[in-house]
Amino acid sequence: MTVASPTRVLVIGNRGMLGQDLEDHLMARGFRAIGVDKGELDITQASSLEQLQKNAFGSFDWIVNCAAYTAVDQAESEIMPATRLNGVAPGLLAFIAKTMGTKLIHLSTDFVFDGAAEHPYHEESLTHPLSSYGRTKRMGEENVQKENPDAIILRTSWLYGPNGKSFPRTMIEAWLVGKSLKVVNDQTGCPTSTHDLSRVIGDVIAADLPGGVYHATGPEVMTWHSFATLATHEAASRLGVAAPVIEPCLTQDWPTPAPRPKYSVLDNSKLQSAGIAPMRPVVESLQEFINHLALEWNGK
Ligand SMILES: NC(=O)c1ccc[n+]([C@@H]2O[C@H](COP(=O)([O-])OP(=O)(O)OC[C@H]3O[C@@H](n4cnc5c(N)ncnc54)[C@H](OP(=O)(O)O)[C@@H]3O)[C@@H](O)[C@H]2O)c1
Repeated sequence: MTVASPTRVLVIGNRGMLGQDLEDHLMARGFRAIGVDKGELDITQASSLEQLQKNAFGSFDWIVNCAAYTAVDQAESEIMPATRLNGVAPGLLAFIAKTMGTKLIHLSTDFVFDGAAEHPYHEESLTHPLSSYGRTKRMGEENVQKENPDAIILRTSWLYGPNGKSFPRTMIEAWLVGKSLKVVNDQTGCPTSTHDLSRVIGDVIAADLPGGVYHATGPEVMTWHSFATLATHEAASRLGVAAPVIEPCLTQDWPTPAPRPKYSVLDNSKLQSAGIAPMRPVVESLQEFINHLALEWNGK
């Protein structure tokens, strides 16, 4: 009897918020996952990509590209670095994956949409990014599709997880040091846990889904204000203290260099029709996230 060897997955950007969780999740699940970040494999450098092509990092069944330029406001002034990393490099990676016979999952974003819709965006809805970050990510999607139509593009939104900076961490930590909070209440989207997205990516690999664009987000629709309220209330209940009152405000009262879509809810039904289970309710994922934060607080 032959025993199937574990699926080999290269996670690029494994020191980022999603990449760290993804590598851990895949390993825990029995995949042979290897993670690299820009110190080992810089996807904007031809020499690095040549090494990848020559199997210098090993040979893989799948590559998941979590590397990106994610500083949304900074991308307004740093257009070239953001374009190289989000726009150009994914196309080169997609081409190389095709020549190696390796399947590719490339992560993208709800910020490819302008937010003018009133119903959830489908995969084929018209993209119209408002920001430099969104435009570079859309360029990346287009280059991936052009170079490798079998690649999978997973659009996600409002990520949070235990590794790195995220919105609920910022809110909870600001509240804990006594800051008063004011949060926009006229931008609507879907918070997505990096743990839950990692599970979905593992399922996509296990199911060997056909190439194309898929939407993968948490199941609940809310504003940043309601997300901040929920996160701080869950943290307060974990700590046994009174929850804060968060002041709602409008986008115009909280100007940022990069415009954000007002409504960027992504319809996940294509992924679910392909047999991938929806993510957990946000309260469950948030409670797990807050347990991680509590471990950090106890370690200090
Ligand atoms: N965060 C969100 O809310 C969100 C929402 C929707 C979609 N997404 C997408 O989801 C994916 C993962 O996001 P994330 O928040 O986990 O990103 P992240 O935390 O910023 O991680 C990105 C990782 O890529 C690394 N990297 C930077 N330049 C690289 C290069 N040239 N070659 C290889 N690695 C490089 C970064 O290293 P350094 O930090 O040292 O630069 C970092 O470790 C991205 O495609 C992002 O666009 C994110």
